[in-house]
Amino acid sequence: MKQKILLTGGAGYIGSHTAVELLQSGYEVLILDNFVNSHKVVIKQIERLTNRSVKLIEGDVRDIDVLERLFSDNNLSGVIHFAGLKAVGESVAQPSNYYDVNVTGSLGLMRVMEASGVKALVFSSSATVYGDPDELPLREDAPYKPESPYGRSKMWVEQAMADTANSNTNCSYMALRYFNPVGAHASGEIGEDPNGIPNNLFPYVAQVAVGRREALTIFGNDYPTLDGTGVRDYIHVVDLARGHVAALDYVINNPAMGFDAVNLGTGFGSSVIDVCDAFEKVSGKQIQRTVGPRREGDVAAYWADPEKAAQLLSWRAELNLLQMCEDGWRWQSAYPNGYVDMDSVRTPESL
Ligand code: NAD
Ligand code: UFG
Repeated sequence: MKQKILLTGGAGYIGSHTAVELLQSGYEVLILDNFVNSHKVVIKQIERLTNRSVKLIEGDVRDIDVLERLFSDNNLSGVIHFAGLKAVGESVAQPSNYYDVNVTGSLGLMRVMEASGVKALVFSSSATVYGDPDELPLREDAPYKPESPYGRSKMWVEQAMADTANSNTNCSYMALRYFNPVGAHASGEIGEDPNGIPNNLFPYVAQVAVGRREALTIFGNDYPTLDGTGVRDYIHVVDLARGHVAALDYVINNPAMGFDAVNLGTGFGSSVIDVCDAFEKVSGKQIQRTVGPRREGDVAAYWADPEKAAQLLSWRAELNLLQMCEDGWRWQSAYPNGYVDMDSVRTPESL
């Protein structure tokens, strides 16, 4: 029988790509999402891409009644917990909201998991828990130094996972620390669809290429990096999704492993200019750029040491920056306004 996995936040950017990879690996997928930052049409897109059906429960991960019902109605083998809020700047302006959704939501989920005997959990953490690095590449044993409420919310959940796993020796909990997920599914049928003006580099560049924005502002070109612009470890979202399948296999097949945290990155750093140049190459569009001041809170450079994931999960990122740009461009050029474009071309009956 197929193993059924709960994906909280499974309609979001990373969750939707992971749902596709899980279905293609033979898992059954149940999505819990309140669509605060995603579109319902995503569910149909996942089903179309995989030719498999997805069960959807529309609800809030903080709603304990919804969780209890969901766990008692479904025989779950594991959970991947994506649901959360993710904008660093917004977390500074609305910390209580971020702690409520990200921390309270995770604690409630872990309580219901414990009560219903579901022991395998994979959690969306972030490289932001490391803050400004003392050493590169970043290894998992680097100290926690988060610099925003968002980063602290991820650190606190990791610590709660570790404490829970210590107190309950049958748990298998894994936090995945993502570096910078970008790009889209190779079909161009699902991708990243930020609300309003993108905060992040990659969607901003994609929107400049497609003509939705005039020019990219480079946040500082006086960093101590090769070309002066910020360096990050960009990882193709499909590689990242496959990393989740590997992590899920691991927590299911290693019962009572306790808690562990693993980086998901490529181990390579690219600068803002590298990303712009690669995007120009694949799209044939010019990325207009101007240089502005540094963005508060940004660090010069960081990238992952990906060895732990390779050793423990037998997983490595395989797709390079050009492939990230190619697939991201396929999605952006097919749907310049994201999922709204899909909603407008399909009748409600076809959704
Ligand atoms: P996303 O916003 O696209 O997806 C999050 C999903 O969770 C959305 O579908 C949203 O509607 C849903 N959601 C939010 N609050 C909810 C709630 N209270 N109840 C139910 N559903 C809720 O974000 P993403 O980029 O796919 O990120 C997924 C996870 O990965 C998040 O936890 C995020 O913090 C983490 N992460 C993302 C990045 C990144 O750069 N994208 C980097 C590191 C970590
Ligand atoms: N940048 C620009 N102009 C822009 C946007 C970004 O020059 O318009 C630069 C930034 O200064 C940085 C680089 O592009 O040097 C990448 O910035 P992003 O905003 O794309 O990504 P960050 O590394 O700042 O942060 C992202 C997510 C965080 C997450 C972190 C690690 O936003 O939530 O990656 O996973 F924690």
